[in-house]
This record gives sequence, structure tokens and C-alpha cells, in this order.
Amino acid sequence: MSRKLFIAGNWKMNTSQAEATDLAKALVEAIGSVDQVDLAVCPPAVYLSSVANALAGSNIALGGQNVFYEDNGAFTGELSTAMLKDVGCKYVILGHSERRHVIGESDEFINRKVFKALADGLLVILCVGELLEQRQAGQTDEVVVEQIKIGLEGVQGSDMANVTIAYEPVWAIGTGVTASPDQAQEVHAMIRNLLAEMYDDSVADATIIQYGGSVKPSNAAELLGQPDIDGALVGGAALKAADFAGIVRAGM
Ligand code: PGA
Repeated sequence: MSRKLFIAGNWKMNTSQAEATDLAKALVEAIGSVDQVDLAVCPPAVYLSSVANALAGSNIALGGQNVFYEDNGAFTGELSTAMLKDVGCKYVILGHSERRHVIGESDEFINRKVFKALADGLLVILCVGELLEQRQAGQTDEVVVEQIKIGLEGVQGSDMANVTIAYEPVWAIGTGVTASPDQAQEVHAMIRNLLAEMYDDSVADATIIQYGGSVKPSNAAELLGQPDIDGALVGGAALKAADFAGIVRAGM
């Protein structure tokens, strides 16, 4: 079992065009030639092309923050898989907690997008995670199991090499409160067991499971040192090149 760490930055709805390209250039300078860790950044969709130019020739891949499941047509405001690929995206984040809880996306809706993204050759980062009240009510495993089972419905084991799961407890996102390494490891191990049940041991062993939620340079090494934590999906700290680079170095 040797999984390559995967660290991705989710810039969310932040940066201007100039800030996005400056950030990408600073990242290329700091970590652009790292190859021990897989790297990606997911800027706002309108800046994907400019960021793609800034990343050209580096080892930092590009990802979208969302995608729709139709090829084209009357879907105002949506983006297709072909559009993301056209501007250089390799990855797409789906099921982020802000899309689930602020925008109202359901597991079934997310599943359609997962299915489409995989069919069209994008690598999917599927986010899952419980709300604070669900954790307090002892429902963490139940919530995460349901999100994964429905989110991956119809996805074959042979496609799982193209799926990263990001476990992001909602109470830890953007709050400065990080799940303890033990708390995160426990859920990651549970997810890996679930993948073994849904698929088989080799899929479970090979699947990258990122942790997300207030990851920063100061806590990254301990989180990434857990046996079932294979990387990080980073929000706030991904907006500062030095912090994101610090997290990447913590994993090297
Ligand atoms: P955060 O966000 O690092 O700011 O907590 C993580 C995420 O939402 O992916």
C-alpha cells in the first residue's frame, strides 16, 4: 500500500484575476517542480484560463470547483465537462459542503455530476462530511456512508482510480477548528472499510482520501502522518502561496 499524497487548493469565491495569476505564479515558484506529491489548485471558473497559463509547464494541475451533467444547452450559469477540459482542467471538486449546505445540492444531484465527470475523463474530488449537530448526535459515520454510497452509485471499481474522496467535517471548514488527527483518522479508516465493502480491498487500498477543514502548515504534518490520510483539500490556507507550500512540504 503506497498511496501518493494529493494536496489540492480550493480557492472558493476568492481572488481577483490579478490575484489569481499572482498566486499561481508564486506557487509555481515555490512548489511547481515537486513530484513526490500530486498537486492541484481550483480557482474560480472565470479565472481558470489565466491560472492555466500561469501554471503551464509546472507540476501543479488545474481543477474546477463544480461542473454540470449535461453536455450543452439551456442551462444558464452552468459549465460542462468539455468546457472545464477545454481550459485545461484535470480535476473537478464535487459535493463540497458549501454546495450541499449553502446551495442545497442533494446526494442524487451530486451523483449525476460524479458520473458525468468520470465518463468524460475528469478526475473527481468527491467531498463528504458531517455537520456539527450530526457529529454531536453520533451520526458521523451514518452521514458519511450515505454521502459516499449515493455519491458513488453506479461508479465501477475500475473508475475508482479517478476518484479522490475528501473527508471534510463541516464544523472544521473555515472555522479554524481542525479535527484532531485521531478524529480524522477514525473517519478515514471507516471510509476505507466502506470502500472495501462497496468494491474490494485493492480499490480501498488505492483510493486517495484527503482531509479538509482548517488545514494549515502548523497542523499538516500530524494530519498527513495518519495512516489513512492521503492528502488535504485546503481552503483558506491555499490563498497564501507560503502557507500552501508549507502544507505541501509538510507532506514531503
Ligand atoms: P478551509 O476549507 O481549509 O478554509 O477550512 C477547506 C475546504 O472547504 O475545502
